[in-house]
Amino acid sequence: FGVRPGSPFLFTIPATGKRPMDFSAEGLPIGLNLDKNTGHITGVVKEKGTHVIVLKAKNALGSSTRQFKIIVGDQIALTPALGWNSWNCFANAVDDAKVRSAADAMAKSGLINHGWSYINIDDCWEIKAKTDDPMLIGEPRNEKGMINTNKKFPDMKTLSDYIHAKGLKMGIYSSPGPLTCAGFTASYQFEENDAQQYAEWGIDYLKYDWCSYGRIAKDNSLPELKKPYFVMRAALNKVNRDIVYSLCQYGMGDVWKWGGEVGGNSWRTTGDITDTWESMTEIGFSQAGHEVNAKPGNWNDPDMLVVGKVGWGPQLHPTKLSPNEQYTHISLWGLLSSPLLIGCDMTQMDDFTLNLLTNDEVLEVSQDPLGKQAGRVSKDGDLEVWAKDMEDGSKAVGFFNRGKWKSEIKARWSDLGIAGKQLVRDLWRQKDLGNFSEEFKVSVPRHGAVLVKISH
Ligand code: GAL
Repeated sequence: FGVRPGSPFLFTIPATGKRPMDFSAEGLPIGLNLDKNTGHITGVVKEKGTHVIVLKAKNALGSSTRQFKIIVGDQIALTPALGWNSWNCFANAVDDAKVRSAADAMAKSGLINHGWSYINIDDCWEIKAKTDDPMLIGEPRNEKGMINTNKKFPDMKTLSDYIHAKGLKMGIYSSPGPLTCAGFTASYQFEENDAQQYAEWGIDYLKYDWCSYGRIAKDNSLPELKKPYFVMRAALNKVNRDIVYSLCQYGMGDVWKWGGEVGGNSWRTTGDITDTWESMTEIGFSQAGHEVNAKPGNWNDPDMLVVGKVGWGPQLHPTKLSPNEQYTHISLWGLLSSPLLIGCDMTQMDDFTLNLLTNDEVLEVSQDPLGKQAGRVSKDGDLEVWAKDMEDGSKAVGFFNRGKWKSEIKARWSDLGIAGKQLVRDLWRQKDLGNFSEEFKVSVPRHGAVLVKISH
């Protein structure tokens, strides 16, 4: 967990099991306090340094401990963000009540106990430029140049207090041009006001789009593509708050090569995802090669998750992905070390969706502290193997069947760069499959995935 010296700190110890629970943390740096009942760690650390903490959770049935590293330094987002974003479900239908119920649902469903933390408002919270909708009209900014919200969001500070009190974090959205993609007030020439306003509101995450900056940029050259992101980075650096900086310009100018240089914690590598097999797989499997650009604090972002009830609001429908396609989606996004942003209405999650998002052994692949992104190891027609190096020396390996028929997929140790007897564990089923030498092969259903950990 990365935090900058002097920035407000908030981390909720993820632990599943019966409440009440009693939390403890050994070795916390000076300035941090733990609430023993909720497991929320808050405070401010002034000095740079690395602290290895031992977290403990205890209930009537037993206890569990885990090491946790806090790095107080320049870099945040040391693991890919786990959260929710309003766009893929609500789009323009987002409002304060829906965001509150998303926070309620993240806590109540238990997602929070698996590490999920960000509640991010996407576009459509600002004043709209051209509209008759009484909820959206008004002065875009006040006399001091500070951005106004529309009537759907009466008080952002109260909303963020509500979210933070649950141990969750809050995100917001803007664009570097004069208007956002949906035609609402954006940050052009008010970047410092906006960064300051976000900090005052208690914002922890900014998704920063590109829309309408195309009119401002002189051309499509790299310096022009980078410029607005440097400007907002500088503005964010001036505020006394850690705000994850998420670039959203769809991969223009090979953003994966310079997203980190402009100070982005993540950058969208493609256009918008939809809940179809074609959209999800075209995006997901086109990430091969980008793994060289990902590391703790800097992540490729192949867009948000399309599981559960989605719809770009107000009408929602169950994702069009079949269950096996959803295993492919979550397995691949985890291997890709992508930010995982749930795109569905969390108040309407069924058991299958919740299971997809709360499998700790699968989430460990996404959240591994080494921060290596998987690369493609082999491709034989529709059959692909992807592998990710893990901190403990093991490999997380995905077997993907993009074809129409059930097929056997094989990974050779020589392709994975390993040798000898290896233990293979099925991560979705949380079950050891046995020891294997030289290779492992498995039958994978059409459009399905098998995700394993290989270790010795
Ligand atoms: C798009 C972006 C979407 C969403 C939308 C809001 O450019 O890719 O994820 O944020 O703008 O208008």
